[in-house]
Amino acid sequence: MKIIYIIVCVIYMLYPISIMSQNGGDLNKTDVVSIDIQKKGAAVASSMYGVFFEEINHAGDGGLYAELVRNRSFEDMELPPKYMTKEGKLIAKPVKHHLTGKTDTMALEWDDKAVPGWHLATGVSALAKISLTQEAPKFSSAPTNLKVEIQKGDSVRLINEGYWGMSIKAEELYMLRTIMRSTNYTGKIVAKLLSCQNKELAAKELEISRDNTWKDQTSLLCAHGTDKAARLVLEFNGVGTVWLDYVSLFPQKTFKQRSNGFRIDLAEMISDLKPAFVRWPGGAIVGGVTLENRFDWKKTLGDPAARPGEYLTWGYRCTYGMGYYEMLQFCEDIGAKAMFVCNVGLADIFQSGEACPDDSIDFFIDDCLNAIEYALGGIDTEWGSRRAADGHPAPFPLAYVEVGNEHWGKEYDRRYDMFYKAIKKKYPNLTIISNHALWEKEKVHDDTGLIDPHWYGEPEFFWYNVNLFDSISRNGSKIYVGEYACIFKVGNGNMEAALAEAAFMCGMERNGDLVKMTSYAPLLQNRHDKDWQVNMIWFDSDEVVGRSSYYVQKLFAENRPTYNVNVKSSSANEPQGLGVQKGGIGFGSQKSYLKFKDLKVIANGKNIDFASLHQKVVKGEWDAKKDMLVQNSNIGESFYWVDGINCNDYTLECKMYKSGLKEGFFIYHSLSDDAKTGVLYNIGCWTGQAVAVKEYMDGSNAGALAHAVEYSIEPQKWYNLKLVVTPQKSTLYIDGKQILSYVPKGVMPNYAITSGIDEKTKELVLKVVNRMPVPYSPEIRIEGARNIAKVGKSISLCAKSEKEENSFKHPHKIYPIEKEFEGFSKCFRYNFAPYSYTILRIKVDNDTL
Ligand code: AHR
Repeated sequence: MKIIYIIVCVIYMLYPISIMSQNGGDLNKTDVVSIDIQKKGAAVASSMYGVFFEEINHAGDGGLYAELVRNRSFEDMELPPKYMTKEGKLIAKPVKHHLTGKTDTMALEWDDKAVPGWHLATGVSALAKISLTQEAPKFSSAPTNLKVEIQKGDSVRLINEGYWGMSIKAEELYMLRTIMRSTNYTGKIVAKLLSCQNKELAAKELEISRDNTWKDQTSLLCAHGTDKAARLVLEFNGVGTVWLDYVSLFPQKTFKQRSNGFRIDLAEMISDLKPAFVRWPGGAIVGGVTLENRFDWKKTLGDPAARPGEYLTWGYRCTYGMGYYEMLQFCEDIGAKAMFVCNVGLADIFQSGEACPDDSIDFFIDDCLNAIEYALGGIDTEWGSRRAADGHPAPFPLAYVEVGNEHWGKEYDRRYDMFYKAIKKKYPNLTIISNHALWEKEKVHDDTGLIDPHWYGEPEFFWYNVNLFDSISRNGSKIYVGEYACIFKVGNGNMEAALAEAAFMCGMERNGDLVKMTSYAPLLQNRHDKDWQVNMIWFDSDEVVGRSSYYVQKLFAENRPTYNVNVKSSSANEPQGLGVQKGGIGFGSQKSYLKFKDLKVIANGKNIDFASLHQKVVKGEWDAKKDMLVQNSNIGESFYWVDGINCNDYTLECKMYKSGLKEGFFIYHSLSDDAKTGVLYNIGCWTGQAVAVKEYMDGSNAGALAHAVEYSIEPQKWYNLKLVVTPQKSTLYIDGKQILSYVPKGVMPNYAITSGIDEKTKELVLKVVNRMPVPYSPEIRIEGARNIAKVGKSISLCAKSEKEENSFKHPHKIYPIEKEFEGFSKCFRYNFAPYSYTILRIKVDNDTL
């Protein structure tokens, strides 16, 4: 499981009953939603809604990639270079993490099978065995082959069950490609497709070369029966030895009839999202556990039989069958722009965090430039000509390059600069995306660039952050929210998750001048391999289910307005409720020696004399000298309490310093009279790499995390700290930079609303998310329109309960329903159903439309 950038935990539950009594079915009838279509807001970029594809959850192999045979190349037991297996684990070579400085050995899941995907079934009197060899390989890049030795035949069958069963359909054709050799095999080899009940669905005799040369043949099998759990069987009736280098089976029908192509149902599901772009290849796999098993695009080109594949971060070896060329072709086929994510010579930060030595950085820069050239270069260039040789002389629609995935810190900044300069020099028109965080926007070189923050959280996180982007600085780069999803406390991904995402998306769309691109993650999950807890589309060998989140994404993309128009509501979008509590402040540490100096508390524009405040050592060895507060022990947790600041409108300023140990400073505010509850900023947590804020409860630092961001705090360095506490929120600044804020939870917004104009259709597009168990029935007033058509459209995604989910059994339980609506006017009332996301499309006109 990956660590995530921002997690919001719920500290109390909002029961529907209490919400109803609080707001009542009637109260929301007094709500007014006012839209002024003359008041233009930000334009919504056509690049806004895209998809993020990563090989995770068998999204590609055993998923979108139409190959039916598992371990077709027999390479699945190959280890990444310098890795070894031990006691059921795959162990990477130990490397130093560039952020923590620690050298760790990473261990991955490893299933020690003889020949993954394949087994031999024989009659009782047979003498036969299979083994993996690298004897006289056909391709040095994929050297392993399967040796089948039959000394005595009796119904010898080599069986491949595919990826949890193969979907075979009557009247369809299947292309079998085999690469085999033999010297002494005496009999026939018949390829069969058998149902799970052993019913023969197709059969074809294969040609055999007996001169020990590799024979590469393609045979067509026509199925006369259907089964979703069929198998491919090679039947041997002779004796002798046969080597198999490659056994591949593809449905003849693939998406857009591409060879080495994609499964139609899954490709259509993605294409139906009308993605503006496809981000590829990841994700964590870009960096790799260590650099040895990073995703290597160059190895994904050319004859699929010669592609080596790689054992990737998510615990299985992929074939590289669905490679760079195939992905670029897919982008072209669905009218999407391509985004390539390159490796910056750094392994994934949540894994080994390996950094390649400085003299290898150029290798990675060249690798990235080559990838761009492969997509865009003329056929007179090295990689452009390779693309042409692979079948596509014209350039592909590559428009974005992301420099690394989920990196931060000085090493990343340095490398990002080098990559940025090299890419811009050669490809000035490409949009370059960095991994920088929200507060680092201005670090990025030009304002055409984008940063890519990621958010996986609970529903509360997304609802509380409906307005997140409203107050973000417009200086520096724009934003691409490259990964986000509501994944905690939402079952397998229920309506509550989908509504929380819809609310957050309203906020992103409303801030279209800043947020230019978004992609939900992860996109696909085979129902038999769940590497991430919530994923957008589920599938097995022949069924596909779009979760409610899928339909939210689809509806946003289908109903993207050209620009926003002003919408105000008496109750949507804003969290309601409690403010920051009045109370004391405190200082503390976790296993760190600390110093604080120049302590100042300023309230109502006046300095409060620090010495006049009541002060108490609760834990640790504290020494309060004039203007200096020192903590002299490496106790687990120390705590120094400063009482008597009985307000919630002040600024605390000081300089702070820690020595030696890895954890950081604690700063508390809103401490209760017994100092047992309050708000705690942990500055330099996670071994000096992050700043977090949490609720301090029952005298324990183990309270719910409200917000965390990466920020490196070093020992032996003075930092300027400023904590601004207001009745609405507290905000922490370090060295003049805003780091993060704490907003008391209060009650989450109940509704999220956004509205815009679709210039093409001259429609007002109003989007309303209602997370409540009762209808939301506001009066809707439209200003600035000359005419409003009475009849328009409503498109609604509803559920009976927020816990409801789509499933394989009921894939359309939560499904958009489009209806004609008669009753639009300059002032009308609309009933937004409980637990719903609704879009109203209203024909409007005025002089500007
Ligand atoms: O989407 C799943 C993973 O989450 C991605 O691989 C990674 O970028 C993030 O941590």
